[in-house]
Amino acid sequence: MAILDIARMGHPILKGRAHEVTNFDDPKLQTFIEDMKETMVRAGGVGLAAPQVYVPLRIVIFFVPEGRDGGTAVPLTVMINPVIKPVSDTIAEDFEGCLSVPYLTGVVPRWTQVKYSYQNVDGSLRERSAEGFHARVVQHETDHLDGVLYPMRMINIATLAFTDAQDENDQECEDQDGAGSDETSQEASDSETSELAL
Ligand code: NI
Repeated sequence: MAILDIARMGHPILKGRAHEVTNFDDPKLQTFIEDMKETMVRAGGVGLAAPQVYVPLRIVIFFVPEGRDGGTAVPLTVMINPVIKPVSDTIAEDFEGCLSVPYLTGVVPRWTQVKYSYQNVDGSLRERSAEGFHARVVQHETDHLDGVLYPMRMINIATLAFTDAQDENDQECEDQDGAGSDETSQEASDSETSELAL
């Protein structure tokens, strides 16, 4: 196994459309996915798409930690050739971070409820429903396969921030408002998402 280099915003590999995986018998596929897992864990991310490690294939790995949005945890999932469809038009905004856009965070609108299908490592077709943070992660990662980074989805660029500057601000708010006020709790939970790099 190997730790792979992560491409950063500006590199052309992150701007193109990745290719469908067609050969599921290739032993290199399994090795590559193991390398992706190791790389994501080392980087402290919760999601990683193949173009982020300079491989233009439609492969994504992700997991959802327990307690996100009050939703259920999702174990480490390998999605190959994923397709997403919204279940409703409802959109929610929340902060996102990205391993290819280090140190930054910004508010991104995403569908709150989606259905998605993908192929497993053995090529078999799977279908799932997702909402909340789970739905957000799947949309963020699948965007990587189409050359889209989260800043390109932002509506209010004024929310783009350095994560450490935002943490400082949260701390100041807590100092001013006193811990435990609803407003402070909300800000704290918002910034929590930004620490989960996708
Ligand atoms: Ni990302």
